[in-house]
Amino acid sequence: MLVLGIETSCDDTSAAIIDSEKGIISNVIANQNSVHAKYGGVVPELAGRCHIENIHEIINGAVEKAKINLSDIDLLATTQGPGLVGSLLVGVNAAKGLAFALNKPLIGVNHLEGHLLAIFLQEEVEFPFLALIVSGGHTDLYIVKDFGNYEILGRTRDDAAGESFDKVAKMLGLGYPGGPEIQKVGESGNPAAIKFPRPLPNKKSMDFSFSGLKTAVRTHLEKRSSGKIEKLPMAHIAASFQEAVTDVLVSKAISAAKENDLNRIVVTGGVAANSNLRVKMTEAGKINGISAHFPKPVLCTDNAAMIALAGLKKYQRNPDAGNEYFELDAKANLPLTEY
Ligand code: KG4
Ligand code: ZN
Repeated sequence: MLVLGIETSCDDTSAAIIDSEKGIISNVIANQNSVHAKYGGVVPELAGRCHIENIHEIINGAVEKAKINLSDIDLLATTQGPGLVGSLLVGVNAAKGLAFALNKPLIGVNHLEGHLLAIFLQEEVEFPFLALIVSGGHTDLYIVKDFGNYEILGRTRDDAAGESFDKVAKMLGLGYPGGPEIQKVGESGNPAAIKFPRPLPNKKSMDFSFSGLKTAVRTHLEKRSSGKIEKLPMAHIAASFQEAVTDVLVSKAISAAKENDLNRIVVTGGVAANSNLRVKMTEAGKINGISAHFPKPVLCTDNAAMIALAGLKKYQRNPDAGNEYFELDAKANLPLTEY
């Protein structure tokens, strides 16, 4: 089967063609970084407008790159939520129009299920496994028991990991998105220079909290500029912040895996592209007899190939779902368990 995936949940416009046997044929992604950079974060109204401007070109690009015709597509899949409603609506409506015109089934996909399954675009991981989704909007721990069978263990109580990277980058005067900027600046810094807090709200709970860490960086910067503490280079601050986030993510994920007798961890979502996190999770996994798996960076950040795959798996579980798309609507909040 040839599946067209469409993703517009936040600030990336993406369309992809996957083949149920051969995997990814094309995966076209247009980011809006230059539009949002001066605000240090995504401006929802601007994001929706950019998706409208880009969506046709991106879908046509994915089809052309795959060297197929639109009529060759057997199934469509689009992100239904969670995300920014004005952004989601663009993809949902483009997909509905295309499905109707082509007379092909369309599946609404939960964006988080896309992140959970992205790893299968590059390798098979045996069920069950622990999954850590770390993105701009989510920091969630799941037990993935099978396709379509997910149990949530914990989530962030305040900022998501990616959001904390973006906010701290803004404080440091770096660009957007903040994660790659902090990684780059931090490369020449000492991760042990500043001992920022490692917030673990409750040792027993699998929840995360990152707002205290963000405040600690702000306090450090205030003291730094008023001359109360030594003026350490920005590279040290970036590296030390990144190290604190990494420590928290690694320690929670490893203890969740051990507690649930899981010896495989999949780390996914934009922050999973972070090289420090990839190295530290792999090392901690080795010590504990746990294998760590990461989609390649382009499949960690938002992309339509993961949506096409999640749509295909959902269609295979329930083909009738593909004909019910007239009722399909964008949902800003769409928990994975309700789906
Ligand atoms: O999954 P994603 O593309 O979009 C959402 O669903 O939110 O994740 C975007 C987030 C941003 O907060 C960005 O700063 C972060 O992922 N990110 C990174 C890196 N690349 C992207 N964070 C840390 N290190 C990176 N290399
Ligand atoms: Zn995402």
